Amino acid sequence: MRTQVAIVGAGPAGLLLAQLLHNEGIDSIVVENRSREYVEGRIRAGVLEQGAVDILNAAGVGDRMRREGLVHDGFEMRFHGQSHRIDLARLTGGKCITVYGQHEVVKDLIAARVTTGRPLLFDVADVRVTGIDTKHPQVAFTHERKSHVIDCDFVAGCDGFHGVCRAVMPAHILRIYEKVYPFAWLGILVDAPPVQNELVYAYHDRGFALFSMRSPTITRLYVQCAPEDELSEWPDARIWHELHTRLETKDGWKLNEGPMLQRGITPMRSFVAEPMRHGRLFLAGDAAHIVPPTGAKGMNLAVGDVAVLARGLAEHYGDGRDSLLDRYSEICLRRVWKGERFSWHMTSMLHRFPGNDEFQWRMQLAELDYYTGSVAGRTTIAENYVGLPIEL
Ligand code: FAD
Ligand code: DHB
Repeated sequence: MRTQVAIVGAGPAGLLLAQLLHNEGIDSIVVENRSREYVEGRIRAGVLEQGAVDILNAAGVGDRMRREGLVHDGFEMRFHGQSHRIDLARLTGGKCITVYGQHEVVKDLIAARVTTGRPLLFDVADVRVTGIDTKHPQVAFTHERKSHVIDCDFVAGCDGFHGVCRAVMPAHILRIYEKVYPFAWLGILVDAPPVQNELVYAYHDRGFALFSMRSPTITRLYVQCAPEDELSEWPDARIWHELHTRLETKDGWKLNEGPMLQRGITPMRSFVAEPMRHGRLFLAGDAAHIVPPTGAKGMNLAVGDVAVLARGLAEHYGDGRDSLLDRYSEICLRRVWKGERFSWHMTSMLHRFPGNDEFQWRMQLAELDYYTGSVAGRTTIAENYVGLPIEL
């Protein structure tokens, strides 16, 4: 097999890169080690920044998102049973976020890829990347019990945090920055109409909780739990009790309950691998960086990375200039670190940290009070939440 760009991983990063390259007339092969059903059913992120929405629209994959996505011009931060609205549109000159499930983005991107007729292979195994220091890297894998090798010009490592591409970078050039948080999120998808149409991030003495949604009939909820907790320790009644307790307000705000359609526990980590490029291998999305989900940044950072990479590759194949590809890591990391900072800050402000003393609790509450009570504080949160620009 021969292609210009071999893409490892069919998450949002790999699939969007494939679409952006196709639009530039650049050939690619996408290999994914899971099945199409699995990838299309994987419930994860829900919030798209304005910039990510613009990129998906410009890529020609925004039709269903424009019809079904829920545009929000604000969200709430809640503590002491009181809500404080962050008016995104007013504080950012009209910018909004769109609530549209990551698996819906993935479905739209897969449908678009299939329409192009270019290769997208699911259920591959034993992916191995070699020759990234040469002009002729290769990606070997097995598919339907046969061995294959892709000869290519570039490899895009879009294979997520547990993928194989990051490990191909020489250990002596890779710097890892990591922070693991002493808590996790238990997330549920509920067959019940959302009680209101804006998200709520709640701080409570018993821990963090988040109210979100996927559609006018499906609610999405998260509750802070211990990282070692098992789902078996969280029967329905316990989940509902914690959600009601952490989210309810003094003026009688109450969640709609319903059957739980899906549940899972997500560990929380901040992680950055630098640089994001070595030789002919480019890392993008979760393969290079992870954020705790409190700032809703993970999928959006992945979209930003591949937008930069696609432009760099378009320049390379267009007029032979490599100046953008050469600055890929630097351009992405500037934005990534700001996403890391915001995600860490929202996480630090809104969670109960086991072992924190009374002074630290009061600092956290004062911070929440400041950020929600001052126009400057709310503006800072709003500007980051709707997404910082990509600075080329
Ligand atoms: P992934 O989605 O992980 O895709 C990588 C792909 O590579 C996968 O399909 C995987 O199967 C495949 N793969 C792995 N190894 C190999 C291999 N060896 N060979 C071939 N294929 C391989 N982000 C937001 O922006 N907003 C949110 O609201 C938000 N909420 C979240 C809530 C939860 C509960 C979780 C878990 C995450 C959330 N995120 C959020 C983060 C977001 O889901 C990720 O940042 C996003 O999935 C990154 O996309 P990606 O394509 O880089 O990686
Ligand atoms: C959702 C997930 C997040 O991490 C977040 O910050 C907001 C919403 C969601 O899944 O809807």
